[in-house]
Amino acid sequence: MRILAISGSLRGDSYNTGLLRAAAELAPAGVEVVLYDGLLEIPPYDEDTEAAAPPAVAALRDAIRDADGVLYATPEYNGSVPGVLKNAIDWASRPRATTAMQNKPSAVVGASTGTFGAVWAQNDLRRILGLTGARVVEAELPVGRAQEAFVGGELASGDVREKLTDVVEALVDAVREREVVLSGER
Ligand code: FNR
Repeated sequence: MRILAISGSLRGDSYNTGLLRAAAELAPAGVEVVLYDGLLEIPPYDEDTEAAAPPAVAALRDAIRDADGVLYATPEYNGSVPGVLKNAIDWASRPRATTAMQNKPSAVVGASTGTFGAVWAQNDLRRILGLTGARVVEAELPVGRAQEAFVGGELASGDVREKLTDVVEALVDAVREREVVLSGER
């Protein structure tokens, strides 16, 4: 099973990217978590080029299509999802009839340096993903005061690691449920 991991932060020392690296370590055997690293190359969304998408957009769409599920980690910027992440999702969600996001099992986690752990950004992201047609799992993980959960760039909090494991497992379960549905349709 292949999970695509998309961080909404471009920052080199991003706590959100750190969460996704930890998710790759914690994933059960047989589950590969692959970090998406093309966010900086995604141009601003332009409906005029939606069908003949720029190469970076085509690569993102392919990466989502090739993945069995997607794990997002989002920071909170002024109470919501960073523009770069929303922009990438807008591209990936179109054309609506053929988007790879349709029915894609997806999960959202998030870290912020504030007390509430990007909880508003996660709520917004889950709503946005739902509108694209993705299947968003209920499990979530707000990591507040992220600077205290990480040591030397690595996720050190045992409590957060445990909760992250639960989210990854919920996503894996959603992928398996989807596979059962798909095999029934064949
Ligand atoms: C922030 N930050 C922030 N934190 C928060 O808890 N609530 C918020 O609304 C905001 N707003 C906000 C806006 C902007 C423009 C920036 C740059 C930052 C702080 C944010 O949580 C912190 O920078 C995190 O470290 C960002 O995540 P990464 O880059 O570490 O993954």
